Amino acid sequence: MKRIFSGVQPTGSTHLGNYLGALRNWVALQHEYESIFCIVNLHAVTLPQDPKVLAEKARELARIYLAVGIDPQVSTIFIQSDVPAHAELTWLLNCIARLSELERMTQFKDKVRKQRDNVGVGLLDYPVLMAADILLYQTDLVPVGEDQKQHLELTRDLAIRFNRDYGETFRVPEPYIPKVGARIMSLSDPTRKMSKSDDDPNGCVLLLDDGDTVSRKFKRAVTDSGADIRFDETRPALANLLTIYHLLTGKEMHEIEDHFAGSGYARLKQELAEVTIEFLKPVQERVQSITDEDLNQLLEQGRNRARSIADPTLRSAMERMGLVGARN
Ligand code: AMP
Ligand code: TRP
Repeated sequence: MKRIFSGVQPTGSTHLGNYLGALRNWVALQHEYESIFCIVNLHAVTLPQDPKVLAEKARELARIYLAVGIDPQVSTIFIQSDVPAHAELTWLLNCIARLSELERMTQFKDKVRKQRDNVGVGLLDYPVLMAADILLYQTDLVPVGEDQKQHLELTRDLAIRFNRDYGETFRVPEPYIPKVGARIMSLSDPTRKMSKSDDDPNGCVLLLDDGDTVSRKFKRAVTDSGADIRFDETRPALANLLTIYHLLTGKEMHEIEDHFAGSGYARLKQELAEVTIEFLKPVQERVQSITDEDLNQLLEQGRNRARSIADPTLRSAMERMGLVGARN
């Protein structure tokens, strides 16, 4: 069985973009692939985090994975910092990664622009840690949103370079980026992606938002000029709302356009809020219903399973580099 690996950072709160761009596809793919889903808290600390909140958020995210439909009977869920091989392989890969290729990463450049002073080394190294995550599991496919494409290309380059220099060690992974939903935009600024770090909280619908909040956010969503409800790339705010509607209901775009023929934005926004609330309600109920004991057990099993795959891969990378056997 081929393998998929993916992860989300336990920072801020999980939003509709994370779900439609990534989690939704994990759920769909988990029965066709051996699936490993990580809570990437080592990535989270590349920016300052409150330690107590970070630990809570890691557990909350595990609950969300389960609540959106990751099936622990077939998929492995674990916390990145529970498997030391991630940090160890990062070091080995650091020694073949080039400064110039990391400085080219657009996400790094964006973060530097926001941060300006005190740009931590971790921010620069973030994609190498991500490469280590993926390569440790001999991953075939990585389901992510569009914003991770460049990081995936770097992961492939590092795998190919390591295999060339030290001998065949890592499987070279492919990205899986959905055709629709890979880039859900902010409701308050359709030129920017929906993001946990959005300065305007109204732009981002969280999976744990209550009904009133969801309604308010959609109500305030910016719109384009033109009154008719029709999918049109040149009207990005409307296209984004229609994309969300399409993905949550499974209705085809022409059906949706027919449904809203003669109506305006107000009705679309109201129905979109209803559809979203209906989708979120059972997810939120499941989040609440998972007990601490069950979660502990799940994360422990996940850690053991993850280690059983990651440790031998790390070991063979170390052997290839001449880091094993010096004592014999
Ligand atoms: P992050 O929140 O940065 O940890 O992202 C977790 C996953 O969600 C990654 O696969 C991202 O590519 C995906 N993602 C984040 N924001 C969006 C968005 N606005 N639209 C679609 N996918 C997204
Ligand atoms: N960088 C990814 C993001 O922010 C999260 C991530 C870390 C990831 N390691 C990964 C995604 C490995 C896929 C595979 O979205």
